Amino acid sequence: MTAAADLGFIHRFEPGREPAPVPLLLLHGTGGDENDLIPLAARIAPTSALLSPRGKVSEHGMARYFRRFADGSWDRADFEARTAEVLDFLKRARAAYALPKPMALGYSNGANVAWSMLLKDPGALAGAILMRAMLPFDPRPIPDLRGVPVLLLAGAHDELIPPERAGLLAALLGEAGADVTYEVLPLGHGLGEQDLRLAASWLASRKPG
Ligand code: MLT
Repeated sequence: MTAAADLGFIHRFEPGREPAPVPLLLLHGTGGDENDLIPLAARIAPTSALLSPRGKVSEHGMARYFRRFADGSWDRADFEARTAEVLDFLKRARAAYALPKPMALGYSNGANVAWSMLLKDPGALAGAILMRAMLPFDPRPIPDLRGVPVLLLAGAHDELIPPERAGLLAALLGEAGADVTYEVLPLGHGLGEQDLRLAASWLASRKPG
């Protein structure tokens, strides 16, 4: 089902099937849209409800969740404001679709907005699967994320995101108390079978609720 922007974002919602595990909030990479991660999510969690908003920022026609400058550095003010906007969408969409708290599944730009959501509103998500995310600045002070499960999957040969920046994010989330699983895979920025397998087994090992 593709819905118009009546909840603030153009998005797609796919209802879950029994026994529906935790719903997934899908957040695509730069140049993607609300359809991008649906096939991936269907393999990771075949019966989960899926909520998938399209990023509202256009970078030369490519959808993203927040602005960055020409040099690749992030527009911090926009990053903060857009994170709040996605959080607001999530709240409204959960009410509209009677959706339990979801786990974020983000790739690249979408993974970056997902960790920002965790820091801004630690109660909004059931956890996060962050694929090819990074920490480009120090966001301290950080909230208490005790017990929040996070799977961070980095690529050892990532052309866009130096693995040490993913490592910094893993360390920061751990410092906040999150239950972090961090894996560096022998891959680049693109996703591979290993990402899928690890995400599926990690998700299946989570206790419901
Ligand atoms: C970002 O801007 O979020 C990162 O550089 C990842 C990307 O979208 O290329």
